[in-house]
Amino acid sequence: MDTLKLGWVIYNGHLGGKKFLDFAEAIKRAANAHDIKISIIKNNALLAGIGTDHSILTQENERPDFVVFSDKDIPLAQQLEAMGLPLFNSSKSIAVCDNKILMYQALATAGITIPKTIIAPKIFPGTMPIQLETFEPAIAELGFPMIVKEAFGSFGEQVYLIQNREQLHKKIIEIGTEPFVLQEYIQTSHGRDIRINVVGGKIVASMIRFSKTDFRANVSQGGSMEPYTPTEKEADLAIAAAKAVGTDFAGVDLLFGEHDEPLVCEVNSNAHIRSIYECTGVDVSQSIISYIKEVLS
Ligand SMILES: Nc1ncnc2c1ncn2[C@@H]1O[C@H](COP(=O)(O)OP(=O)(O)O)[C@@H](O)[C@H]1O
Ligand SMILES: [Mg+2]
Repeated sequence: MDTLKLGWVIYNGHLGGKKFLDFAEAIKRAANAHDIKISIIKNNALLAGIGTDHSILTQENERPDFVVFSDKDIPLAQQLEAMGLPLFNSSKSIAVCDNKILMYQALATAGITIPKTIIAPKIFPGTMPIQLETFEPAIAELGFPMIVKEAFGSFGEQVYLIQNREQLHKKIIEIGTEPFVLQEYIQTSHGRDIRINVVGGKIVASMIRFSKTDFRANVSQGGSMEPYTPTEKEADLAIAAAKAVGTDFAGVDLLFGEHDEPLVCEVNSNAHIRSIYECTGVDVSQSIISYIKEVLS
């Protein structure tokens, strides 16, 4: 391809609040600095058909050279790819990261260190009550405290620290038919983790997050942040994790294990970049645009 002229940034039209548009606007600024035009488009302004006849229904009249997909509308992402548009990140990597069960499976398959994780068996709606005794082997394996984490969740909101059997049963009933995992609680990482932004297999920014009030270090849960230089081991692990789930760019969360041995907590394909900018002064969107230019040239 010759020079890139136009990119789309897709975001979710139903998510209110400025923080969801923030990423799109940062990408736009970074692209404009390279003379690339950007249209910021809501996912619900693009109606995806199935097949080749009605591939996409849109008011947009110019086909973009690339799409930065800042949403988790996987069928739309797949349809855009089926039309031959290069997506960053790919629909596949977004789908893997969106579902923490698929994400941990991909990481483990690539030999990446993660906390010991057990998948809760699928339950169909309307087939209650939940057979709580079937979780006994997981309790025997993980002990208490343990972490319960819903497959779909962000900002730490669907991650729970469980102290005993009674709390576990209550949480399992509350979660109902949503998919989740039971996970080893990494006590040495209580209230602290590392966020590393990886773009095109390289580390572009990194911070340490810590909380005095919560086991979760997410900034949305009241965590503070400081710039951080990862050790070689942490850097290699973050790069390998971003690769294992197929992301072009990602925010990788690492936990501190015994003797500060790093473990991967999660890979975010749709990480926000405002906090890392405020903490480190690094504008990750610039690296993303440079990377896209490099890949498509
Ligand atoms: N196994 C664990 N042991 C200890 N702390 C954890 C564990 N898993 C997650 N946490 C803490 O909870 C936070 C949120 O978990 P994470 O898996 O990143 O979910 P989210 O997608 O909601 O950010 C992490 O940043 C970390 O501070
Ligand atoms: Mg996280």
